Amino acid sequence: MGVLGCFALVFGLGLVACGGDDDDGGGGGGGKVALLLPESKTTRYEAHDHPEFESNLKRHCPDCELVYSNANQDASQQQDQVEAALTEGIDVMVLDPVDSASAAGMVNLAKQQGVPVISYDRLILGSDGVDYYVSFDNVKVGELQGSALVKKLADDGTPTGPIVKINGSPTDNNAKLFGQGAQSQFDAAGVQIAKEYDTPDWSPDKAQQEMEQAITAVGNNGFTGVYAMNDGTAGGAIAAMTGAGVDPASKPTTGQDAELEAIQRIVAGQQFMTVYKATSLETDATAQLAAALAQGEDVPSDLVNDETDNGAKMVPSVIETPVAVTIDNLQDTVFKDNGDLGPPYQTVQDVCVAQFAQACKAAGLE
Ligand code: GAL
Repeated sequence: MGVLGCFALVFGLGLVACGGDDDDGGGGGGGKVALLLPESKTTRYEAHDHPEFESNLKRHCPDCELVYSNANQDASQQQDQVEAALTEGIDVMVLDPVDSASAAGMVNLAKQQGVPVISYDRLILGSDGVDYYVSFDNVKVGELQGSALVKKLADDGTPTGPIVKINGSPTDNNAKLFGQGAQSQFDAAGVQIAKEYDTPDWSPDKAQQEMEQAITAVGNNGFTGVYAMNDGTAGGAIAAMTGAGVDPASKPTTGQDAELEAIQRIVAGQQFMTVYKATSLETDATAQLAAALAQGEDVPSDLVNDETDNGAKMVPSVIETPVAVTIDNLQDTVFKDNGDLGPPYQTVQDVCVAQFAQACKAAGLE
């Protein structure tokens, strides 16, 4: 931070004026914006969040410079990346934490240097240095997963399950929210849980091992469905079922993120549903906030639509709406063009390759 930034801070001129080095701390010039993403095992970050944020930032701040890093599921690597970005003199930090709790220290570092922080997708807990939070209604994500599975189990004649639950990473605050939403649906319908696991790093291979353990413990007929918290863990669970000679089509499995492979599994009848979260909306809102903060301008008044308690303050928030996806609404969701915000999340061309062509045809996808 240049002398001008500190000067503004000392005299309480307001955070937006305190960005980065002198020559871009206010009034329309560009600025340096850091985007720090948590992991690379889940495909959304490099396939969607990074490129979509980059193009949306360019739209809202053509002169802004993007400083990007991915922590590969490693919180200490993210700590180093935060320190490196601050040393580079960034004006705004957009942070999607590997560990929602331990990220508070990273935010406090940024605050000490007058750098505003946007908590991206996952809420950073326990720091009053978080200026904005942008995400989806994550309890709703779980409710959509839970209610879809509850209805499918009832249609299959096994309304109370039991099911196997493959949850996400215990260090990710989102996993807690997804779980709350899903469990509320299972409790309401009286669905029994045969086995339940938390999956470190949301790692698909660990999810596969967990599902193998569950099948060994309860047998091929000891469960009637699988609650997988995202598509990565769903892929692991489905691979385990296939390996054990269990037809995944007979065990409805949930997911999240509308990954390419998940859409292919849905078309092929191997996965029952996923949840589409339009990252084009999430990255656009975040880019608008970052652009305003980097250029010392006011944040668009119609952007913030909520506030979220992170244990230290009520954080002004932009909360987007998730959508449940099955084979019946692919065209209206993941294949839909997003206009100014970008191309469709997935394309029929990408999904309907080779071994999926037949299933796509049967589903009317051509
Ligand atoms: C969550 C995110 C999900 C997900 C998971 C694994 O925080 O909201 O979309 O896939 O992390 O990265």
